[in-house]
Amino acid sequence: MREVPDRIVRLPDHYFTALLAQVAAATARGGEPLADLGRGNPEVEPPEHVVRALTECAERDDVHGYAPFSGVPALKEAIAIRYGEVYGVHLDAVREVAVLPGTKTGLMEFALCAVESGDTIVLPDPGYPDYFSAVALAGAKHVPFSGFDVKADAMYLNFPSNPTAATVPDGLFEEAVQWAERSEAWVLHDFAYGDLVFDGRRPQSFLAVDGARHVGIELFSMSKSYGMAGWRLGFALGNAELVRRIELLQNHAFAGIFRPIQEAGIAALTGPQDSVEERRATYERRRDRTLAALEGIEAQSEGTFFVWFRPPDGVTVDQLVVEHRVAVAPGEGFGARGAGWARLSLAVRDEILDRGLERLRAAFA
Ligand SMILES: Cc1ncc(COP(=O)(O)O)c(C=O)c1O
Repeated sequence: MREVPDRIVRLPDHYFTALLAQVAAATARGGEPLADLGRGNPEVEPPEHVVRALTECAERDDVHGYAPFSGVPALKEAIAIRYGEVYGVHLDAVREVAVLPGTKTGLMEFALCAVESGDTIVLPDPGYPDYFSAVALAGAKHVPFSGFDVKADAMYLNFPSNPTAATVPDGLFEEAVQWAERSEAWVLHDFAYGDLVFDGRRPQSFLAVDGARHVGIELFSMSKSYGMAGWRLGFALGNAELVRRIELLQNHAFAGIFRPIQEAGIAALTGPQDSVEERRATYERRRDRTLAALEGIEAQSEGTFFVWFRPPDGVTVDQLVVEHRVAVAPGEGFGARGAGWARLSLAVRDEILDRGLERLRAAFA
């Protein structure tokens, strides 16, 4: 029997794979169609001009070989310009931008590039489950965030947060920079939902804080702002040393990203931006409907495409699926402090959201 290497054994159960399996099993049992509000998979497609840029580029005969390993320079410039215009952050496109095949990859790469095995990484709790996977891959230990007096080698932050849909509290990024300087530690800010903020809030980049780029990186994803989740394109931005290490790791592990995807990324970042606002406004409208439907239930959402809520005592997420045919993501999968809470996705068509909300209301009545 060949032994499974420890780095594979220590990977946690994959939360979203398990969630999808639960929904598939419930669907297979038959009955009323399930209202699946469990999964956060953007359902609004990218703007037409972006898809056109992809297909036009794919028809060229000079784009099918290996793309530059560290990304098309014009793509790096495009994201750097957008950072300046939208977040007031001025980046060196050559030294401070790495192109990633999706930010999920960047979550893994940060842990591999920033810490030694045995080191300690602070994670949000509740937080995005793949952070646990990154810590496990790097052979590090994780501790839940409990303030800035913690001793650790790195920290993951995520605002607006998946799953709690909270935006960043005033001063928290500044404290994180001070902590990292004091502790000689690294910070990763996961900005996957950066543009999706509600109630007149402005997107807040970690890199807009003085000193942030000395202590860490921010991950920007094309998945949520532009509806390009399946395309796998994102960026690590900020600290030049971490950017260098990530590009080095990628030179060994990957061989660039298909050029038409990068060209379409340029079209998305430099072309008309109305779709970003439309998408944001769509989620805000659905958030409003959801909070109204859940009146009387503890529920919150300041951004992202999620609502974080506490089902009434005695109602379990399993019961919701089996008895009421509505799926939401159980809070404990996001960390111990998520127990008793649940996450509902707004990234579903309006009629599915409405059907799901009706069923939740019936379940909670
Ligand atoms: C908090 C958070 N970070 C990162 C990601 C990964 O996004 P990407 O599609 O860029 O890999 C997701 C995707 O759901 C997410 O919710």
